This record gives sequence, structure tokens and C-alpha cells, in this order.
Amino acid sequence: MSVRIAVFGLGYLGATHALCMAELGHHVIGIDVDSTKVGMLQSGELPFYEPGLGEVLERNLAAGRLRFTTSYSEAADFAQAHFLAVGTPQRSDGLAADLSHLDALIESLAPLLTKPAVIFGKSTVPVGTAKRLANRARELAPAGEAVELAWNPEFLREGFAVQDTLRPERLVLGVDRGRPGRAEEVAREVFAPLLNVGVPLLVTGLETSELVKVAANAFLATKISFINAMAEVCDRTAADVSVLAEAIGYDPRIGREFLRAGIGFGGGCLPKDIRAFRARADELGVGSISAILTVADDINTRSRTRAVDITQEVCGSLPGARIAILGAAFKPDSDDVRDSPALDVANQLQLGGADVVVHDPMGMDNARVRFPDLGYATSIGSACEGADAVLVLTEWAEFRKLLPHDLDTVVRRKVLVDGRNCLDPNPWREAGWTYRGFGRPQFSVSESCSRAELVETASSVAP
Ligand code: UDX
Repeated sequence: MSVRIAVFGLGYLGATHALCMAELGHHVIGIDVDSTKVGMLQSGELPFYEPGLGEVLERNLAAGRLRFTTSYSEAADFAQAHFLAVGTPQRSDGLAADLSHLDALIESLAPLLTKPAVIFGKSTVPVGTAKRLANRARELAPAGEAVELAWNPEFLREGFAVQDTLRPERLVLGVDRGRPGRAEEVAREVFAPLLNVGVPLLVTGLETSELVKVAANAFLATKISFINAMAEVCDRTAADVSVLAEAIGYDPRIGREFLRAGIGFGGGCLPKDIRAFRARADELGVGSISAILTVADDINTRSRTRAVDITQEVCGSLPGARIAILGAAFKPDSDDVRDSPALDVANQLQLGGADVVVHDPMGMDNARVRFPDLGYATSIGSACEGADAVLVLTEWAEFRKLLPHDLDTVVRRKVLVDGRNCLDPNPWREAGWTYRGFGRPQFSVSESCSRAELVETASSVAP
């Protein structure tokens, strides 16, 4: 059954949610205060790069199930279910989340709700926010008690946003246990096509649902920082963190994902979410979680500095060195450069006196806005022209496929720093390059066993 849905906030999360809800067959109106964004989406243009999402937009505009507006009253009149997807960035004066967009949204939307409605919050928020917003919405809405607020956190990854929304691993719905209402019933209608194919729905209290999202990101960030701390140990002992990650990852309790050492995590979610959680945990007097996340954040910052130190080491000194940076986006298959480790490293190198030229397949326009003083090149070849060191800092497929002969005659010195441990060191070293990764032996070490040997050993001891 088709539900009339409004999605407030057309950033990464909201636009993806709006488009994918239309794809499920619902009638959707997307609302944003930014009329440029609204205009772009209405004319079939995505304001950001995301594989596969452009087709979903085109298809659903054509089917007449999707439209965009800046008018809250149009949305309030139209929808039965209101999804809140505005940003909760880090506050400029501290670690906590800035909830001003969310607060402003409730202040504008709730007074327009004259008939029964369910509001579903999707933004990542500090635990306790949902209950506060629910009280405020009931207070302001002419429909009063007939306005319910539930929380439906979003776990989508950039680069996989369509797949993560249309085939999520799980759905979580937080409801106010003290005020039974229609939120679960409406959510079951909205997500029926997913529930019908077996996607699990966990119905929880409001606080648990807020914490599920925060805990997931805190765990993922800690996992990355754990492997980066292990890379520091490997660097001092000639061990190889890539092999180590593979070996421990065979244990299903550990798992292989999110154990790629390198310059660490960035983007619009993980860094600000762990900081907001630190601030909230401190408020709650839970020092343990705050301590874990402080260390995870510090290790992450150090991983970026480590890339700068390695580059300085291989170049001798930074002033006068020409450095090619391959990668600007915070991860591949995205044009998002928010808190990008690659650009942070590029900027630090430039501040250290190096002549830095950046290339990225998708992230260049956004990078130029944030770091207008860095050099930019439109191809791998022109970025690497005359380079004293080539740094691979975002693992785009086209960088992972690079081979020494692609760059041998382009660079001035054959030096490669692999900030994502995404290249095989052997062909580079065999072609006379200096290869430096993170937590990988500096020279080919015969005792570091290859993946094939590892698999062979594993299968030979299997029962
Ligand atoms: C993350 C969460 O994964 C997602 O569930 C949540 O909804 C939003 O935040 P996203 O920001 O898209 O998603 O990126 P993710 O794939 O999690 O990567 C985050 C960062 O960690 C990237 O900078 C990536 O390069 C880095 N990373 C990831 C590592 O450094 N090592 C790894 O092993 C994995």
C-alpha cells in the first residue's frame, strides 16, 4: 500500500531516503530550505555523486511519485509520515552535536500538523533528543496528542546508499513505550516491501534506537583505530598488518571488514558522531566510553600525521618537494570531502612547504571549495608529472589498478606512499620504486606470508 511521505532535509541521507521511498512505490515530497537543491532535484539532477541514485531519481520523477519543494505547509498538508533527515554536525564551540537544524524543523513543522501524523526522526542524535522533540511537537501541533514521534536511525554508507536503503541489513524503530500509538503500524506499511523479503525490524524504546546508531559508528571507528594502532606496532617490528588483519579476520567473532589500516576514517559521520558521543557520555558521567573514543580519535589523527612523517622521511625535506596526491574524497565512489583524511594530509604537506598537486576522479570540485590553495590536476599523469613522491590516499579502483610502468617515466623520483595499503608492494619494488605502506615491512620480507600461503595453511589445518 502506498503511503504519502514527506522527507525534510535533502542532504545525503534525506535525498537518498526520499528517492528510495518513492522507488518502493510511495508518494514522496522532499523538502529543503535550499531552493537550489530543490530545483536541481526537481529537474532530475543529483546535488552529489552516488552510484545508481541518479537512475532512481529519474525513474520516480517520471512515474510522478516524487516532487520537491521549499514549502513546509505543502508537505504538512500532503503527508501521513514525516521523516526528519536534517544534519546534526559538530558544534563549532565543542565536541557535541549541533541540534539547531532539528530544533528549527520541529518548530516550523509541528504548528502545521492539524491532523494525526507520525514523525520519524532519522538524523543521528544524542540519546534523549527524541523524547524532548516528541514533547515539543505535541506541545506545538494543533493535532496535539495525535502527533507521534518515533526514531528510525539510518545506517547507509556513501557509495552503497541505494543498496543499503533498499536492502538494509536491519531496520530499527524506536517508539515511546509509554505512549502506544500508530508509529509501528505506519513504519510496517512504509517498509512493507523490505519486511516481505525478510529484512529484520527491531522495535525498541526511543533511547535504545538513538544509541544503536551511535554505538554502531563508535564501534566501527574503534575497529579502524584498533587496526591502525596495530599498524604502529607492526611498523616497529617488521610485521605486516595486512596479513595480520586477514588472519584475525577469519575468526567470525572479529570479521574481516573495517580492518584496513592506513590514514584512517573521515567523512560526514564517523568523526563527528564519535565526538558527539564522547560529549554525551561525559554528560551522563560514563567515562569509559568517552575514554575509548578519545583514544580512537587520537589514533585516527595520528594516522594522518604519520602519512606526513613518512612523506617527509622519503623526500628528505618537504620544502621544494613536488608531491602528487591521488585521492581527495574521504573514500572511493564518493565526491564527499568532508573531513577527508586525504585532503588533511595534502594540506599538512603543503603547510610544510611541499608543492602539492591533487587528483581525484569525483571529488575535485568539492575539494577546490574547501582547499582552494592546493594544486589540482585533471589526470593521474598530470598530477604525477615530475613528482618526488606519489601518495595514494583514497583507494579508487583506478588507483588500485596502477602499475609501475604507468608512472615510471612520469615521476622524478620513484617513491610511492600507499596511505590505504591498497597496492601490492612487490611489483613496485621490483621496478625500482621505494614503496611505503602503513604497518607493512619496508622491504620485502620473505617471512611475511602471502595471502595464497595463508589460505593454503588455513585449509591444510582445517578439519
Ligand atoms: C559510515 C557508516 O559506515 C554508516 O553505517 C553510517 O550510516 C554513516 O557513517 P560512511 O561515512 O559512508 O558510513 O563511510 P564508511 O564506509 O563507514 O567509511 C568511513 C571512513 O572509514 C572512510 O574514510 C574510510 O576510508 C575509512 N575506513 C573504512 C578505513 O580507514 N578502514 C577501513 O577498514 C574501513
